Amino acid sequence: MEKITISTLQHCKNCNNKFAAITAYDFSFARLFSNQGIPVILVGDSLGMTIQGNNSTITVEVDDITYHTKAVRKGAPKVFLISDLPFLSYYNVTEAIKNTKKIIQSGSNMVKIEGGKKILHIVKELSDRSILVCGHIGLTPQSIDFLSGYRIQGKTYDDAQRLIDEALLLEDSGIKMLVLECIPSALAETITKKLSIPVIGIGSGKNTDGQILVMQDLLGITEGHVPKFSKNFLNQKNSIQAAIKKYILEVETGLYPDIKHSF
Ligand code: KIV
Repeated sequence: MEKITISTLQHCKNCNNKFAAITAYDFSFARLFSNQGIPVILVGDSLGMTIQGNNSTITVEVDDITYHTKAVRKGAPKVFLISDLPFLSYYNVTEAIKNTKKIIQSGSNMVKIEGGKKILHIVKELSDRSILVCGHIGLTPQSIDFLSGYRIQGKTYDDAQRLIDEALLLEDSGIKMLVLECIPSALAETITKKLSIPVIGIGSGKNTDGQILVMQDLLGITEGHVPKFSKNFLNQKNSIQAAIKKYILEVETGLYPDIKHSF
């Protein structure tokens, strides 16, 4: 795989070529995804839930992001790597620059930051220092209590208009990519068409430039609540759950280890 850069992804947007992105948090999965040709990996603060077992992303620290970013970068040296600036790590310009420095130095190409109008000055300060910034609007999990839960955003005319305005303002302030989470498909399409930068959707329909899924959702290993938009791409027969069940059964019945797997 060629090294993926922001120009590669911008070219995809310009040529109307859709691209896939996925979250990853460790070396092994990053290598596996990269070897299959995934061009973009996100070290998302979703790791607060998928790795740390918390019920939101707000417990995640900058050190957690840098730890996982280093591991993912080792597994996927050529992918375009985005890492989240976690909860309250960008509440002012000084903090944002200090924490972005740590994240970029741990191997990321771009930082992702949640929010609209209130963070435009942060985006501008980072962009002015040649940092690649990805915006994230719609359902922004770091504001989950403010939003009163995981629910579709942009359903009313006013809220949709606000999201369109914020997307345009973020682009003006210097973001080079935008994530739209859980907004109606038609609104995501409008925003994607209005912006000249690549727009990645999650739970926002098919008309964005790229899609992203949390790896545990895509591999069908999220147990309990699974978001409506996510799709398990592993069939049941060959699922990870089926592999674990088979392992337990073969150990219990003495089928594993056999001669072939013994010294
Ligand atoms: O943290 C994350 O994994 C994300 C994606 C859901 C876009 O922000």
